Amino acid sequence: MKSIIKKNLITKMLLGLGTIAFLSGCVNDQSDKTYANAEEIPVNKDQAMMAELTSPPFVPTPVGKRMAKKLIVDLEIQEREGEMVGGVKYVYWTFGGTVPGSFIRTRVGDEIEFHLKNHPDNKLPHNIDLHAVNGPGGGAESSFVAPGHEKVFSFKVLNPGLYVYHCATAPVGMHIANGMYGLILVEPEGGLEPVDREFYIMQGEFYTEGAYGERGMQAFDMQKAINENPDYVVFNGHVGAMTGDNALQAKVGEKIRLFVGNGGPSLISSFHVIGEIFDKVHVEGGDLINHNIQTTLIPAAGAAIVEFRVETPGSFILVDHSMFRAFNKGALAMLNVEGEENKRVFTGEIHEGIYLPEGSVIQSMPSLDRKKPKEEMKALSFEDKMKFGKDKYMATCVACHQGNGQGIASAFPPLAKSDYLNADVDRAIDIVLHGLTGEITVNGNKYNSVMTAQALTDEEVSNVLTYVYNSWGNSKKEVTPQMVEAVRNR
Ligand code: CU
Repeated sequence: MKSIIKKNLITKMLLGLGTIAFLSGCVNDQSDKTYANAEEIPVNKDQAMMAELTSPPFVPTPVGKRMAKKLIVDLEIQEREGEMVGGVKYVYWTFGGTVPGSFIRTRVGDEIEFHLKNHPDNKLPHNIDLHAVNGPGGGAESSFVAPGHEKVFSFKVLNPGLYVYHCATAPVGMHIANGMYGLILVEPEGGLEPVDREFYIMQGEFYTEGAYGERGMQAFDMQKAINENPDYVVFNGHVGAMTGDNALQAKVGEKIRLFVGNGGPSLISSFHVIGEIFDKVHVEGGDLINHNIQTTLIPAAGAAIVEFRVETPGSFILVDHSMFRAFNKGALAMLNVEGEENKRVFTGEIHEGIYLPEGSVIQSMPSLDRKKPKEEMKALSFEDKMKFGKDKYMATCVACHQGNGQGIASAFPPLAKSDYLNADVDRAIDIVLHGLTGEITVNGNKYNSVMTAQALTDEEVSNVLTYVYNSWGNSKKEVTPQMVEAVRNR
């Protein structure tokens, strides 16, 4: 990331010079003409360049003012086990070892020599259909490759824009649903306007035999996929890929550019950043630019380039605004912005009064009528409790109370070194079971929000609270299922 920022700064410094050079018509050492037809842009085939490929959420160095080149893309398909959310394993099929696959950055006029390698340990043949290709199948037929083989094909990049690539081997939906998608950016001549930070985000949904959070290795469920009823809808391959310690980082005043794709295979994304307005959206990744957008629609196998300046510090949540996907299936990421408060833009809370209409009730999470896992895995040791408890915390509590229990100022109270939590364990159990609304004081700060009752078993409550009490400087109590049962029955 640092190198990208550095590069951006240098690009910025050179921008003035570059503009002058462009106007005087001597920017191109191969030719000084502008080509109406991108097919005619010349490429020096003796000066091939290896394409820089990056894992999400990072992107390669901008093309800037460079000439069109022969660009060699070397991409390896890997079928590998990963973690969907704490305790849930999944075998992902990947382009380059990550979901989404490696980001490819190129420019109009480049000639791409694409090497697609299928690792010998893989079990299946695959291929690649790049939406940036003008040719049959987007390269799919030319790139169909068995494990332990490599296929090479080449194409000239004609259209600027942000494009999805994906595997197109039958059953295509299944290859995509297992993670086989990514983005290829084609910059226009002269490159995109420099910004301070760029990130790579891609939504995709997963269909597993077990329900959300059910532990163990989860197989792909074809019927759920056909019904378009996913258990997980996530950014960058798994729940929490960009939250807590992995949250995106920026500083007040910076201009952010997000390359956002949607791998699908089926759902449409209503992409939104809570607390920000997109100054600019390259609609569907193409030339059309829309301004002042709250939520942009990204079709399955489509993309958008989203740009905004961050004016105030804080935690900004990226979501698919189909909200149950965000809060119950994982489609949530965070951008943490540091810097000076800007009271001209946002004051924060200035007053709080009492307002108590009749009939206020705590909402509860309805116990879902889908079947519970056949048998619940019991924690047999303290280490098990900590492990299972952490998994449950990361799946259920982290969005509000945050990765290290620090909470969110003036919204969600901290659990780390919390005097309120440590003072009364039965009260803490009661809150998890039955929810809490109204004002409380934690470590001297007042909070007034709503926590919903959580539909967890006694075992799950005991694990998650044991984890919380034995983390982040808390009082190291161990909570047993019997203690939870006693509070539940009183
Ligand atoms: Cu495939």
